[in-house]
Amino acid sequence: MHPINDYAIHMTTILSIESSCDDTSAAVLRDDRILSNVIASQKVHEQYGGVVPELASRAHQQNIIPVVDSAIRQAGITKEDIDAIGFTRGPGLLGSLMVGVSFAKSFSLALGKPLIEVNHLQAHVLSHFIDTGEPRPTFPFICLLVSGGHTQILLLHDHFNIELLGQTIDDAAGEAIDKAAKIMDLGYPGGPVIDRLAKEGNPDAFRFATPHIAGYDYSFSGIKTSFLYFLRDRLKEDPDFIQHHLPDLCASIQNTIVGFLLKKVEHAAIDHHINQIAIAGGVSANSLLRSELQRICHKHRWQAFIPKFQFCTDNAAMVGIAAYFKYQRGEFADLSLPPYTRG
Ligand code: KG4
Ligand code: ZN
Repeated sequence: MHPINDYAIHMTTILSIESSCDDTSAAVLRDDRILSNVIASQKVHEQYGGVVPELASRAHQQNIIPVVDSAIRQAGITKEDIDAIGFTRGPGLLGSLMVGVSFAKSFSLALGKPLIEVNHLQAHVLSHFIDTGEPRPTFPFICLLVSGGHTQILLLHDHFNIELLGQTIDDAAGEAIDKAAKIMDLGYPGGPVIDRLAKEGNPDAFRFATPHIAGYDYSFSGIKTSFLYFLRDRLKEDPDFIQHHLPDLCASIQNTIVGFLLKKVEHAAIDHHINQIAIAGGVSANSLLRSELQRICHKHRWQAFIPKFQFCTDNAAMVGIAAYFKYQRGEFADLSLPPYTRG
């Protein structure tokens, strides 16, 4: 046998599935390298200003087989090459999770291959270990996980020994950004729109108070309310206030949220003597969060780990890398496991 093929025999091929919210995704990883990562995003929710769970599970049902099929074909493998099937077990929307979980179980039974359950939040964080040719963090490091559903400061001692240092006590950062966007009628999800418009605005044009929360915890519901009340007052004087100040409003609310997020991360790193900081989750695509993290790390001579855009929002490659580490540890799941909705 050719030496390269011989070597390939010892590598692990994992098919992974992600369906926790509104993206149906399947990926194939060979060890820590991506062979394919297919994502079907659901546009149906835009007109409702948020994810409609019933519509999400229906769309997953339609997408799951074509998405898995293209992931396998794009990877250039056959079903028989798969060593294990990784799937997101939770947290997420129950109806959405059930589609991916049921599919993974059926596929595992049909192929006679083992199942590996993955926690969606761990997958976001472990996406930093996908081989992209870029440097990867070493333990211990801190990761700020910021998405539409979660805001957490995590201290990673090991791939699966993850200490929760702090988290939001109410809304997630992405939720706050999306709500601010909704107030300004910018559509859903508003995070990327605010990011784009903020580039033309002055981040110090308006000030929104951030709450005093102990330790490394966050609270975002107050910021959203103060933004809402601020606009209500200004709109009384100028009914077109939003149109007249849109870039400044976007830049100011984004600056408030990013500043609040990173201030706590900086404190956590100093207090725990950590010199490597990563960001993960949908909001880690935010350009100000990325550049400010770089600036802070440069100031302290820390190392910043900023994910490629395709790994920020939900995708199955991150589930695949988490499954790969579990495969190495022999941590397999059995067919009786139900999905879970809370982290
Ligand atoms: O991780 P994710 O895809 O889904 C969840 O698990 O929640 O995160 C989605 C969130 C949304 O709130 C979206 O507005 C936000 O990530 N987001 C952004 C940007 N891109 C996505 N927020 C700010 N700036 C962006 N560029
Ligand atoms: Zn996510």
